[in-house]
Amino acid sequence: MQILLMGPPGAGKGTQAGNIAKEYSVPHISTGDMFRAAVKEGTELGKKVEACMKKGELVPDSVTVGIVRERLMKDDCKRGFILDGFPRTVEQADALSKILSELGISLTSVVNISVPTEDLIERAVGRRICKKCGATYHVKFNPTASEGVCDSCGGELYQRADDSAETMKSRLSVYEESTRPLIEYYKKAGLYVEIDGRQSIEKVKNDLFDALRRD
Ligand code: AP5
Ligand code: MG
Ligand code: ZN
Repeated sequence: MQILLMGPPGAGKGTQAGNIAKEYSVPHISTGDMFRAAVKEGTELGKKVEACMKKGELVPDSVTVGIVRERLMKDDCKRGFILDGFPRTVEQADALSKILSELGISLTSVVNISVPTEDLIERAVGRRICKKCGATYHVKFNPTASEGVCDSCGGELYQRADDSAETMKSRLSVYEESTRPLIEYYKKAGLYVEIDGRQSIEKVKNDLFDALRRD
């Protein structure tokens, strides 16, 4: 199972990738999560990517492709994986197909969670994440039982540095320019499936599992 989950910023990729990873016992590979971890640890990679992320710009392809290549070579990817937030440019998509052909595998599904732009700012600005276990919530669409406290582990919730309305505007324009063209790219490859991401989290999950079962 080699799954690629696409969608604009705030579409629900991370929320849904978590479910799929659990169900199929495959690693959830999110370049955004990997970069955030590097920033938090203050590694060389973290220093390189922090400014781009803060501005809502893309990290250079050479850096991104390098970390994904390294990750996909690890043993736990032998049974499959779910990619979230990579590729985001045509150059990254070409690099991915080269890496996969070196590994002798190919993508099984490419699923796009489609959400209209006007909904995305609200989703990002209202997102809250648990400091301890990483669970994702939303103040309106997926609230915790007690404000600011994680339902599953009791950890404190925080907001991502790039989840302001202002930074979201630049993330969305970067998406339109650099990432949306990948829809055509994967349609041409005959791999593309689209899911209506305006539905509830539960309904999106059901549609996603249906789509994966068909592949
Ligand atoms: P990244 O972390 O990947 O951010 P993103 O693509 O902008 O996507 P998000 O994580 O914001 O949204 P999501 O789709 O995961 O939504 P979620 O499930 O959390 O990347 C961050 C940065 O890193 C980039 O800007 C760039 O700088 C860099 N980067 C990363 N990858 C890169 C690459 N390949 N190349 C170059 N640079 C890269 O949901 C959002 C909110 O909505 C949550 O609050 C959730 O509870 C809620 N929600 C989810 N589903 C629903 C629903 N169905 N209905 C209502 N609310 C919902
Ligand atoms: Mg995410
Ligand atoms: Zn938690």
